[in-house]
Amino acid sequence: EKGGYEHFMLKEIYEQPKAVRDTISPRIKDGKVVIEELNMSDEEIKAISRIQIVACGSAYHVGISAKYVLEEVAKIPVDVDFASEFRYRNPILDNNALVIIISQSGETADSLAALREAQARGLKVLGIVNVVGSSIAREADNVMYTWAGPEISVATTKAYSTQLSAVYLISILFGQIRGTVTKEAYKNMVKEIQKLPEKIQKILEEKERIQWFANKFASSHDIFFIGRGLDYATCLEGSLKLKEISYIHSEAYAAGELKHGTISLIEKDILVVGVATQEQLYGKLVSNIVEVKSRGAYVMGLTTYGNYAMEDTADFTVYVPKTMSCFMTSLAVIPLQLLAYYVSVAKGLDVDKPRNLAKSVTVE
Ligand code: F6R
Repeated sequence: EKGGYEHFMLKEIYEQPKAVRDTISPRIKDGKVVIEELNMSDEEIKAISRIQIVACGSAYHVGISAKYVLEEVAKIPVDVDFASEFRYRNPILDNNALVIIISQSGETADSLAALREAQARGLKVLGIVNVVGSSIAREADNVMYTWAGPEISVATTKAYSTQLSAVYLISILFGQIRGTVTKEAYKNMVKEIQKLPEKIQKILEEKERIQWFANKFASSHDIFFIGRGLDYATCLEGSLKLKEISYIHSEAYAAGELKHGTISLIEKDILVVGVATQEQLYGKLVSNIVEVKSRGAYVMGLTTYGNYAMEDTADFTVYVPKTMSCFMTSLAVIPLQLLAYYVSVAKGLDVDKPRNLAKSVTVE
């Protein structure tokens, strides 16, 4: 049932082009984004005052990316909360707020409780859910399914990727209806989003380089991921993947925060992964890389093809294809998933069933 792959995680990493395509294609008709399941009129979409995203773990990281994309494209203010925080914090939300709960399993106890809490306050809840008929799917006012198919490996990969795609579709649709994107930009986004599957495929074809690098760093004790903007969201996910399955301590930092404390942890030969796919922030990230390098860090740079200046600064550079900057997380995360996977394999760990973790967290 692993289809010839050594682990479910690798199989699911490889299923990502298909999963992303299956999530996007049914929602694009004649060059337009159409999400029938949303069940929201144009008037309702125009009236949204803010969006509150609630989720746990990797789904929360999708929420962080969603904040950047929704604010950029649809100009709607977005808050993101861990479900375990949201449910106890008495959030201030008016009737025109839209609550979005993101969950692969649809059974995460805190996310389900957050959904009920929001509904008890009279708020509408949209669920972005993978498991059909799960509790969150049943109880949400509307459900947008991610079509990742069954995910077996505890560490999520393809569900995460499809959640990102769902968020992009919502952002494009809301931006169009609220008039915050030009016709030209709309057309471009619809075109670019459909190219994501083949670009992910291309990254997967270069997995040997990551595997080689993972073997070299498998005995690390601390790894830092730094990025700005959407690259920071990517770092959060890359760091969690690594922690979960390789048992290496790692942290993700918004790169500008480094010098406010964390940089004291950087010493000789510590691995720092610098993610730099956001063009307008590229120079800033490069200067952060220079700073950690001057403290002795070994730097893996992750950037887009064409940005070859990175070679002068990083010790090892991984390239991914370019897409619009708001969709870059979908591509930049792939090498980080592979890095976590191959480190875990190199250490001989139980990749699909890491210690202390369950696939769906049904107790709070
Ligand atoms: C990480 C991972 C977890 C889940 C989290 C939420 O690889 O799988 O962090 O993302 O437990 O689970 P769902 O999406 O089922 O609500």
